[in-house]
Amino acid sequence: MTCDRLTDRALIVTGAASGIGRGTALRLVAEGGRVLASDVNAEGLAETERLAAAVADHGGSLVTKVADISDEASANEAVATAVEAFGKLDGIANIAGMLRSGRTHEFDLDTWERILRVNLTGTFLMCKAALPHLMETKGAIVNAASTSSSFGHPWMGAYAASKGAVWSFTQTLAVEYCKVPVRANCVAPGSVHSGITSNVEFPPDLTKDESKLVRRIMSPTGFGDPADVASVVAMLLSDDGKHLTGECIRIDGGTHA
Ligand SMILES: NC(=O)c1ccc[n+]([C@@H]2O[C@H](COP(=O)([O-])OP(=O)(O)OC[C@H]3O[C@@H](n4cnc5c(N)ncnc54)[C@H](O)[C@@H]3O)[C@@H](O)[C@H]2O)c1
Repeated sequence: MTCDRLTDRALIVTGAASGIGRGTALRLVAEGGRVLASDVNAEGLAETERLAAAVADHGGSLVTKVADISDEASANEAVATAVEAFGKLDGIANIAGMLRSGRTHEFDLDTWERILRVNLTGTFLMCKAALPHLMETKGAIVNAASTSSSFGHPWMGAYAASKGAVWSFTQTLAVEYCKVPVRANCVAPGSVHSGITSNVEFPPDLTKDESKLVRRIMSPTGFGDPADVASVVAMLLSDDGKHLTGECIRIDGGTHA
């Protein structure tokens, strides 16, 4: 069951072609939001658009924009497209991200740099482009951190470094813009069904002892769904989250409990 707390809100969701980003875009539309759904994956975005038509409620609507958050011109274009379509911007959910794993002493520098570029620099570029508009509306930012932002995730050094930095970047945004105010928070998912979790590959030569370490990053209650994260993002972008800023909410089925 959804409510109309996002009616007339102009919102951007990145990573909206799959998983948590798609779930978030659908949830925001169901709560009345006018959503620009963005991703590098045009085919996935078309499917999100199709699904949105079935859940749109309370005046909600969705348009799509293919954009690469790791490219400044493309990130700027995504934000400009939203502002042109809606006349303003009330919130942004930076959900796009990528994961590659491997032993740190064997990890390829190009892959390290790509992960940092997408997860961290991409989040920065979208925030940079969106902030002037969010300052006008006293809007809100939600960035996708991860359980790896706050405790060790073996064989995910680059990913964990990027997500730890997303969290510290978000805390800084929360303080830097608190007098406007623009609120900035993170969601930290863990063990959620998505493209990232179905494609994750651990090093093939793990010993039996090393394999046991996987348990520490798995939820003791099983996997959640993108909708479980989307409902929290919707709250953070709405007035229900108006006294929340600089927070990182774990949605990980108790992984970190
Ligand atoms: N699923 C989990 O358990 C989990 C746990 C922790 C954090 N996260 C985070 O949640 C976010 C969403 O991931 P997901 O789990 O839904 O995975 P997903 O692979 O299903 O979705 C990620 C989306 O990001 C898009 N993307 C990748 N690079 C991009 C770029 N340069 N520009 C624009 N879009 C790009 C992909 O095309 C994809 O649609 C990510 O930031 C991820 O790190 C997920």
